[in-house]
Amino acid sequence: ITTQKIKDLTTTFKFGAAVKTANLKSESAYDNTFKGEYNQLSAEFEMKMNFIWNSETSYNFTNVDYLVNYAQQNNMTVHGHTLLWYQSFPDWFKNANYDSVAFESKVKVYIETVVGRYKGKIKSWDVANEIFNDDGTMRIESQIQGKFKDPIGFVGRCFKYAAIADPDAKLFYNDYNVVLAAGKRTAMKNMAIRFKNAGIPIHGLGEQFHYRISTSQTQINSGFADLVSSGLLIHLSEIDCKVNTTNSPTYVVNSTDLQKQSDFFKNIVKLYNAIPGNQKFAMTTWGITDKNTWLRDSGNGNKEYPLLFDENYGKKPAYVGFLDGLK
Ligand code: G3I
Repeated sequence: ITTQKIKDLTTTFKFGAAVKTANLKSESAYDNTFKGEYNQLSAEFEMKMNFIWNSETSYNFTNVDYLVNYAQQNNMTVHGHTLLWYQSFPDWFKNANYDSVAFESKVKVYIETVVGRYKGKIKSWDVANEIFNDDGTMRIESQIQGKFKDPIGFVGRCFKYAAIADPDAKLFYNDYNVVLAAGKRTAMKNMAIRFKNAGIPIHGLGEQFHYRISTSQTQINSGFADLVSSGLLIHLSEIDCKVNTTNSPTYVVNSTDLQKQSDFFKNIVKLYNAIPGNQKFAMTTWGITDKNTWLRDSGNGNKEYPLLFDENYGKKPAYVGFLDGLK
């Protein structure tokens, strides 16, 4: 439907996707579409603590090395996702039930080891992911809430550990539902101000942008403007847009819904393209093709058709909507 490439039109920000090593190795259409269409790599899961840190003294960097080398060979930047996430603490680490001093000293070594290994190769990191609830309170299961009287202070020190390990890396805080949840957004902005005032390096805020065609554009627009008012780099870090608003496994995708998805992408690209140049970083889709999306793996089995390429790696109306947003 079009031979134009999104990555050729976005000279002011990267166009990224989350990928999996197994698919890059096993599926040529996946590999060719990724390296042909995108210029930034995120790892869907391989750069998380539970996939790297097998025991206190043993790390498995095989997949991370593969992805970093792949990106270098294909002239792509790499965004590191993510150093600290309540869902990715390994079982051995959680079972050790460290006190706050031991907890922090071991996480510090982990951050120094991982960020240090990829210094100059992984240009940016989500230092912390999803520590807030939508109302701005600390997420209780975040492993750190119970450990530290001042959990934000601990997170700040993790930003410092990452900055020392790679002073040139751009350091992000990442979360979901940010443009819709004012409490979470305010907590993020306040944390960034606190870090700045304390001389702790934080460069950007990530909004995962997992939405659907029925998400209010008005709410997206106003929440987005407030997020941009932080003045930091803005990363739309895990974009996908569910099409199946019937929430039924028997839903059959139709052109009307695919056009609404195209309009969704056109709107957010216009929004993003209009922010100040010094706040532009990347727009990243969470996956490449509708055939392989976390929403299929982990959802209720409904097909959501959330991405820019269909199950045969064909460009969807959403791809054209993205291009139109850049014009
Ligand atoms: O494929 C491997 C298999 O080879 C291996 O034997 C097995 C061992 O556990 O893991 C399998 O990988 C699974 C992977 O998804 C690939 O499907 C992991 O078990 C599973 O934990 C992993 O889930 C990922 C999840 O984060 C947890 O890390 C999803 O792919 C990924 O899409 C999802 O991404 C999160 C973001 O990091 C944060 N924002 C929300 C987003 C969606 O939940």
